[in-house]
Amino acid sequence: MTDQQTERPVIDTHAEAVAVAQDPVTYSSHVSRFLQVPNGMDGTEHTAMRRLLAPFFSPERMAALRPLLERVCAGLLDPLFDGAALDAVNDLGSRYAVRSQSAWLGWSPDLEDELIEWMGANHEATRSGELARTREVAEWFDRIITSIVTAHRAPDAPHDLTWELVHLRDGDGQPLPDPALVSILRNWTGGDLGSLALCVGVLAHWLVTHSQMQDEWEGLDDAGLDAAIDEVLRIDDPFTSNRRVTTRDVHVAGRDVPAGTQVVINWTRANRDPEAFGDPDRYDPEGNADKNLVYGTGPHACPGRPLATLELRVLTRALLSRFRVEAAGEGVRAQFPLGGWESLPIVLRARG
Ligand code: HEM
Repeated sequence: MTDQQTERPVIDTHAEAVAVAQDPVTYSSHVSRFLQVPNGMDGTEHTAMRRLLAPFFSPERMAALRPLLERVCAGLLDPLFDGAALDAVNDLGSRYAVRSQSAWLGWSPDLEDELIEWMGANHEATRSGELARTREVAEWFDRIITSIVTAHRAPDAPHDLTWELVHLRDGDGQPLPDPALVSILRNWTGGDLGSLALCVGVLAHWLVTHSQMQDEWEGLDDAGLDAAIDEVLRIDDPFTSNRRVTTRDVHVAGRDVPAGTQVVINWTRANRDPEAFGDPDRYDPEGNADKNLVYGTGPHACPGRPLATLELRVLTRALLSRFRVEAAGEGVRAQFPLGGWESLPIVLRARG
């Protein structure tokens, strides 16, 4: 398949998506002229950076974060009453994404409104496809991040996760340079905030269209609920795609492609490939888990998966323990390169 606008080859079968993502020598991640840590790195440089940053997503950190996320959920959901109408993506998903990322990173709640505003502008820019707008929102975000990094260098700065990152030493005992810190924080927040909000929309849509699942999900243990959430995100994967650049001539996506060509891995389509999944809409958390590509595969597979999984599980539990969720009219589908729902009206019915 070929992207009509960019003419880039699009990899949309499961087998080829896996083959490409697991072959970083032929398909380099160095697709942008901007520094992207670790996304745009290859080989040993990439492995070293992944190793350095992995402890920020450790099981111990996730366990310590859980009660903070439960508090974030209580803050969002407890003020809501029986019959409350809201947009699952823009009211619930976006706010939860910003507050939970801030809880993890130790960022001030004062940043919330600016981050929400930025997310909206970022989605608009992505939708428009205009480079100038994309650059403008990227620069805006870099200004936010740079001021946070600077504040964490102050002698009286709180020793939170961002402080630890700012004071981290690489394998040679050197501090990470500012552009690397800004890029890491951009990938941990800028990329994720939108994805998490879109994931919330997809999950809410599933729950309102499969209302019998609301009781079933409530009874699941953590592992079962994580598998159920992953499977729903596979069926309607809102994290649509990533790029690679070929390092040699290859035959991919049904055509001959010279070295130096950008190709697109379309995770959403690969996750619905009938060759891999039979009926792509069949909900089978256990049976499909091994093939699920929501968090990618290969050396660039999502390092934030434990965090995203925890965030989505805690919100789903908090929501279902307080409310039954119902549809409140038609939602609006997001347009590629965004996936899932742009907006989704729901109504909350208090339990019992
Ligand atoms: C909300 C749900 C999320 C989804 C569906 C998702 C999905 C993905 C996917 C498919 C990739 C693979 C990219 C590739 O192969 O080029 C990826 C990479 C990445 N994700 Fe996530 N992600 C999510 C949340 C997060 C979170 C919470 C963080 C961090 C706070 C994060 C940070 C990253 C980073 C840094 C990479 C690049 C890794 C590398 O290139 O080595 N993601 N993500």
